Amino acid sequence: MRVTMVGSGYVGLVSGACFADFGHQVICVDTDQAKIDALKRGEIPIYEPGLAELVANNLAAGRLQFTTDLAPSVRQADAVFIAVGTPSRRGDGHADLSYVHAAAREIAGALSEFTVVATKSTVPVGTGDDVERIIREARPDADVMVVSNPEFLREGAAIQDFKHPDRIVIGANEPRAREVMTELYRPLYLNAAPMLFTSRRTAELIKYGANAFLATKIAFINEIADLCEKVGANIQEVARGIGLDNRIGPKFLHAGPGFGGSCFPKDALALIKTAQDHGTSVRIVETVIAVNDVRKRGMARKVAAALDGAVRNRTIAILGLTFKPNTDDMRDSPSIPLISALQEMGARIRAYDPAGMEQARQALSGVTYTPDPYACAERADALVIVTEWEQFRALDFHRLGQVMSNKVLIDLRNVYRGEEALAAGFRYDSVGRVHPH
Ligand SMILES: NC(=O)c1ccc[n+]([C@@H]2O[C@H](COP(=O)([O-])OP(=O)(O)OC[C@H]3O[C@@H](n4cnc5c(N)ncnc54)[C@H](O)[C@@H]3O)[C@@H](O)[C@H]2O)c1
Repeated sequence: MRVTMVGSGYVGLVSGACFADFGHQVICVDTDQAKIDALKRGEIPIYEPGLAELVANNLAAGRLQFTTDLAPSVRQADAVFIAVGTPSRRGDGHADLSYVHAAAREIAGALSEFTVVATKSTVPVGTGDDVERIIREARPDADVMVVSNPEFLREGAAIQDFKHPDRIVIGANEPRAREVMTELYRPLYLNAAPMLFTSRRTAELIKYGANAFLATKIAFINEIADLCEKVGANIQEVARGIGLDNRIGPKFLHAGPGFGGSCFPKDALALIKTAQDHGTSVRIVETVIAVNDVRKRGMARKVAAALDGAVRNRTIAILGLTFKPNTDDMRDSPSIPLISALQEMGARIRAYDPAGMEQARQALSGVTYTPDPYACAERADALVIVTEWEQFRALDFHRLGQVMSNKVLIDLRNVYRGEEALAAGFRYDSVGRVHPH
């Protein structure tokens, strides 16, 4: 099949490369000339494990192309995916649909034969109706069907997720559209990935429901972690004890500094706005957002407490800046409010992240970036693990102790057992566990 992917970011690029890998002919379009030029040179603009190789293989096989010129690719496409960004609209938290609408207008102008337009971007219920209206107004003659095909991949494991999804959701009523989508995903269907056909609006809501539920799990376990600290219980054991119940499941029950990233905060907020627009409310989700915002700010107080409140003019080393490991994505990362709050308290910040430092420079100021964890820890009064990258899981405590001014470790991801750090002479604090000091 011939596929056009409009938007070549974290979702568009991974989806496009994976569809090409299935054997389809894929053209990835983006308005960002620099991004497309880089991709044509074989450079991958984002950090995503395995993506460079996947793109290179499919470029070489002639199944994958990149362009800024949308029209020629849409003209010959069986399916056109919209995978542009839907960030929070400034001021009110609604999803900003301007990129989706613009993409729909551009696509409309180029349609020729029967085409399925599938929205992969995460969009509020009813956006498929908008896209269809935009296209039909511009091109009453076009033989087009607009479907919803939300994407559930996780950054950092995006290729694996795309190729082995828990489910594929397709919001389309018309058999012709379903046929095209079935053909596109056939390789996965053969792997027995369940394909869920629903109405367009239902598909749109499934995506928000899933993200809001996952965010709720995280916010929930974080509150239980706070309680653990008060009563002397261990959150990791509590979470395991809860998660072994099949009705609950072990995933997304890891206590930490609060959720961030490009999806959960904005999608939860957008769901709240959608509910309000329709005269109802999702109060649990409202609370989840509020609890998470407070938590992210509260992490700075935790760091301050480990320094007995003396933060001014102290040097704090931050390990991990991205919102999770194996990505360079800094959008809404918990490290941002943490670092800003520590800077406001008068701390000097040193930081290291294996992939996120370039993007971090745009989100943070006054931070000294360092080439590795030990350089980061030099002359630091405290070391804070914010993101659980693999390379932070076996730090040499002896070496850290030698370069640091003050042996204080605050482990916001519970990477270590407290005893190891305490035995190495560190003052140690973590999340939802109590340690002697
Ligand atoms: N990042 C994730 O893990 C993830 C997972 C599932 C769903 N989503 C959703 O997928 C969508 C895309 O997210 P992302 O993280 O890939 O965003 P992104 O910002 O990385 O990529 C969006 C791309 O679209 C391009 N673009 C904007 N307008 C365009 C236009 N008119 N024509 C062509 N290109 C255009 C931008 O230049 C950018 O490169 C969002 O709705 C997001 O919520 C993201």
